[in-house]
Amino acid sequence: MARSLCLNIGNESRKKWVVCADFPPMPRAPLPSSVVSLADLAALAAANIERTAWDYFRSGAWDETTLARSEAAWRELEIHYRGMVDVSGRTGRTTLFGREIPCPLLAAPTAMQKMAHPDGECATARACSAAGLPMCLSSLSTTALEEVRAATTAPLWMQIYISQDRGFTRDLVQRAEAAGIEAFAVTADTPVWGIRERDMRNGFRVPDGLSIVNLERAGGPTGHSGVGIGGALSWTIDSTLTWKDVEQLVSWTSRPIIVKGLCRPDDVRAAFDSGAEGAWISNHGGRQLDGAPATADVLAGCAEIARGLGTTIVDGGIRRGIDILRAIALGADAVAIGRPILWGLGAGGEEGVARALAMLRGEFDIAMALAGVRSPAEIRQLGSGLVRRQT
Ligand SMILES: Cc1cc2nc3c(=O)[nH]c(=O)nc-3n(C[C@H](O)[C@H](O)[C@H](O)COP(=O)(O)O)c2cc1C
Repeated sequence: MARSLCLNIGNESRKKWVVCADFPPMPRAPLPSSVVSLADLAALAAANIERTAWDYFRSGAWDETTLARSEAAWRELEIHYRGMVDVSGRTGRTTLFGREIPCPLLAAPTAMQKMAHPDGECATARACSAAGLPMCLSSLSTTALEEVRAATTAPLWMQIYISQDRGFTRDLVQRAEAAGIEAFAVTADTPVWGIRERDMRNGFRVPDGLSIVNLERAGGPTGHSGVGIGGALSWTIDSTLTWKDVEQLVSWTSRPIIVKGLCRPDDVRAAFDSGAEGAWISNHGGRQLDGAPATADVLAGCAEIARGLGTTIVDGGIRRGIDILRAIALGADAVAIGRPILWGLGAGGEEGVARALAMLRGEFDIAMALAGVRSPAEIRQLGSGLVRRQT
């Protein structure tokens, strides 16, 4: 089992987590009260996480233009707030796939969370459980899905890559359903792996002591084979995928399917036509096609198609509670966060993730009050009357 070692780096008093098979986890100091924003958590995580892992987490594809644009685009949306509204009874509550949650927020799937903290995916699950918020587990997780399921009573979804070995994917989905996974997000933006040059320079590979446990199969490499992650995991994605494969996936499970990684209204329609119940507007955190649009720029058109057909999730560059309000006004039912979860993990494990979620929830609550709105439903109803692009 993977453990960790705290190493002193040079003369710095800061310690970095290094994934290592033979050393027990060291206790962590509680998060300082000066950590008040996600950016503060990111700074702490950057100091704690080993550099090649940090580069893997932060990187985008090629010139990282989509990555940069994804954050900036939310900030360009002005909030035309209402005055003199009694907001004392406001609530962030909403319902996703039949489960009520306190805020339209969830953890996006991110691979290999044990590189951020030895407790990895279970720490994220426990923090989500305490907050009552959904988590979507990556199929490239470093913890078995059953263990993660046991760590949360909140909704747990799982992200799926339809692999070249369809029988393996079917068995994985059915195993996950039997374990209590409540929905599946099938990733549509990864016919091949995007090119992340930081990882190439670093010769990034799955660290010793960790493995991509849910994808272990007889006779096949799982990423722990001494080569770059794209090469070792090449069998887990498939460049021949079409909407027919989504139809097939739908037929393998009774749980809702969400298609993740869409940016076009016609693809949103195709997802629902294929039997999906959700459309997840995402550019994979800028890690796949550099040059893809920021999700804030395409969300409204996609959500318009989804209205009445199913659920719309959006992610990419959400860094403030006010971004949640912006996304809901543009038609999303909920937003997901990827890197901020990793920052929380790196900064303080479960406590750090809990802090990240609490910050965003708290900020969303204040944002609602200041904008003169009382619920996600009201934000959605006001739509473009509330949030407009700067002219
Ligand atoms: C380090 C890292 C690993 C990721 N792993 C996966 C994955 O295994 N499957 C997937 O569908 N998306 C994955 N994503 C994309 C996220 O689910 C999400 O779309 C993205 O991180 C959202 O952008 P944000 O990081 O700006 O919040 C990953 C993103 C990051 C940063």
